[in-house]
Amino acid sequence: MKTLQQWQTADAAHHLHPFTNQADINRQGSRVISHAQGAYIFEANGHRLLDGMSGLWCCNLGYSQPRINQAIAAQLEELPYYNTFFQCTHPRATELAQAICNKAPAHLNRVFFTNSGSEANDSVLRFVHRYWDARGKPQRKAIIARENAYHGSTIAGASLGGMGFMHEQFEPLRGIHHIPQPYWFGAKGDNADMDEQDFGLWAANQLENKILALGPDNVAAFFAEPIQGAGGVIIPPDSYWPRIQEICRQYDVLLVVDEVIFGFGRTGEWFASQFYQLEPDFIVFAKGVTNGFVPLGGVLVSDRVSEALLSHTNDLAHGFTYSGHPVACAAALATLDILAEGPISRIKNELSQTMRDYWLPLADHPLVGQARCKGLVGALELVKDKASKQRFAGNGHAGTVCRNMSLQAGLVMRATGDTMIIAPPFILDRNEIKDLTERAWQALDLTQAQLQQ
Ligand SMILES: Cc1ncc(COP(=O)(O)O)c(C=O)c1O
Repeated sequence: MKTLQQWQTADAAHHLHPFTNQADINRQGSRVISHAQGAYIFEANGHRLLDGMSGLWCCNLGYSQPRINQAIAAQLEELPYYNTFFQCTHPRATELAQAICNKAPAHLNRVFFTNSGSEANDSVLRFVHRYWDARGKPQRKAIIARENAYHGSTIAGASLGGMGFMHEQFEPLRGIHHIPQPYWFGAKGDNADMDEQDFGLWAANQLENKILALGPDNVAAFFAEPIQGAGGVIIPPDSYWPRIQEICRQYDVLLVVDEVIFGFGRTGEWFASQFYQLEPDFIVFAKGVTNGFVPLGGVLVSDRVSEALLSHTNDLAHGFTYSGHPVACAAALATLDILAEGPISRIKNELSQTMRDYWLPLADHPLVGQARCKGLVGALELVKDKASKQRFAGNGHAGTVCRNMSLQAGLVMRATGDTMIIAPPFILDRNEIKDLTERAWQALDLTQAQLQQ
């Protein structure tokens, strides 16, 4: 058994980490998570943390789910691998495709499997091109997405995403255009004093403006997360989504809802598209479909798009060796069974309200300019001055301090700039949500003390 320091030394020498500053790792050592139980993770030094982020928004049922483990083990015995290319399938992929369609909005009846959310967004881009080719409008290639969106890290995912710090590190794909996000708290200039619902309409109308600027006959699709996750849990005003849906219908622009975070229950519905009453052409999923235990992603495809895709007589020249991997599908089937037994309806009927009861009062803390939540996600905007909403200088320094203080307080909370975000597992009870928010308050106190030094 290695010591903590031996793990850190080997890790710093050989492991290139995603979204990590390697100099920090070399200086401080990586945080080694050695085991987990229920909603808690444990560091190799024994420190226990309430995982307020469900891993990376994926271990929605926590870390102890023996039925998922058993399904994985049984599948490894029965059929550890086969592919779904060249007219082949296997029972788990077929069962899972059917099970997911049964939970989705009625007009989405086909699933394409990938290994991740990034690959799923990549796949949608391929399907969108093929759809418009089949419709005899090959010039419809322009894509619209949103600033500060996150759609993954493949070249298509990162180009669709609107994160400036990512775009700086590569040459984004051409033909992808970004419009402002529905971020009311961050509204600037003339919009700063706008009423929330008016702001939602303004943000939605940016889509129409962009479609008109590009020429409606050139626009293929609009990609969006129902609530922007990694961008800071940006919950759109209620006026936003109905107007977006209306614009997509009016200009015949395909609507792609990236539910990698929200699919499989986080709003209290199976899909956020049901929560917001959307009629998307594609729903992108990953993460929670297997409770994060093995990689699986995919795309739900609407009937009108499937029909066009199937009208091509040549093969669909797209796929991954592990599309519909049997072990991943078995894990997903067990996850869906557990989710159907109560956790999602509990969010709808109980935990969404519990979150509001305990999370929103964090707005009373002197460091918090706004507290917001929806279903089981929440955010806190850290500000230097509550009345004017003035931010701290330092480009995310306050958020980083707060994230570290949160760990000290025994809670995993994530920082996006100076916005603290949370996505707790569905298995928490009322007392644990209360405990989570008390730890968040403690983290805010510690942060305030540190920032004053
Ligand atoms: C909305 C959204 N889309 C896509 C992705 C990318 O998924 P993956 O990391 O599985 O490629 C993420 C990951 O966080 C996400 O939040």
